[in-house]
Amino acid sequence: EAQIRKGLPLLGKKVMVTAGPTYEAIDPVRFIGNHSSGKMGFAIAEELYQLGAEVTLIAGPTSQKNNTNIKRIDVVSAQQMLDACLHHFRKSNITVMSAAVADYTPVEVAEQKIKKKEDHFNIELKKTTDILATLGKQKADGQILVGFALETIDEENYAKEKLKKKNLDLIVLNSLNDKGAGFKTETNKITIFNKDLSKTAFETKSKTEVAKDICAEILKLINVS
Ligand code: CTP
Ligand code: CA
Repeated sequence: EAQIRKGLPLLGKKVMVTAGPTYEAIDPVRFIGNHSSGKMGFAIAEELYQLGAEVTLIAGPTSQKNNTNIKRIDVVSAQQMLDACLHHFRKSNITVMSAAVADYTPVEVAEQKIKKKEDHFNIELKKTTDILATLGKQKADGQILVGFALETIDEENYAKEKLKKKNLDLIVLNSLNDKGAGFKTETNKITIFNKDLSKTAFETKSKTEVAKDICAEILKLINVS
């Protein structure tokens, strides 16, 4: 295998990719989740592997299958994803955070299944740690950090704000507004902002093709540095 991979642009590079949703437990049988399928992140992990990288894929609950040459770490909650990311980030040359991490998690997890009683029922939630922002603070010279943004209004401004605030090298804006783009679909429509705020807009494409576009932008960053 080493022989076949000779000459690939990311040979010798360690990359970390997060993918899928997180599930935040309410009680032993219930959770708060989201519709992320994990497809985009798995496609990026595969493409980075094809470019020669040594890939660690940190995956939330998903039915996606990965190439067996990719090291996969399965996690469930935002906290577990944070722990896995903190463990692998330091040695990662390139990190792509495509997971749809829960922003809030229940303050308490009931030990037993919650019984239905009153007509109205509240669950108290607290903010999770922003994994991407945490890694952005720890980022060393030469490390590349790529984030995603999902917005429904004022998309470009919010994406650029996240790029700056989280100390990213690239942010991929996912357009949920366009037909055939977003969660659970086979296609995606993205715009990539570089940290110098230059912008590249792409057409709606299959997630495999979108992964190639994202990785091509990452390669450009490596070749200039
Ligand atoms: N992210 C993360 N940890 C969180 C929440 C988000 O690492 N607890 C990452 C996602 O993986 C993504 C990026 O932050 O790469 C942007 O996620 P998004 O939901 O668009 O933005 P938020 O910063 O969470 O802000 P909001 O949901 O309020 O728009
Ligand atoms: Ca969020």
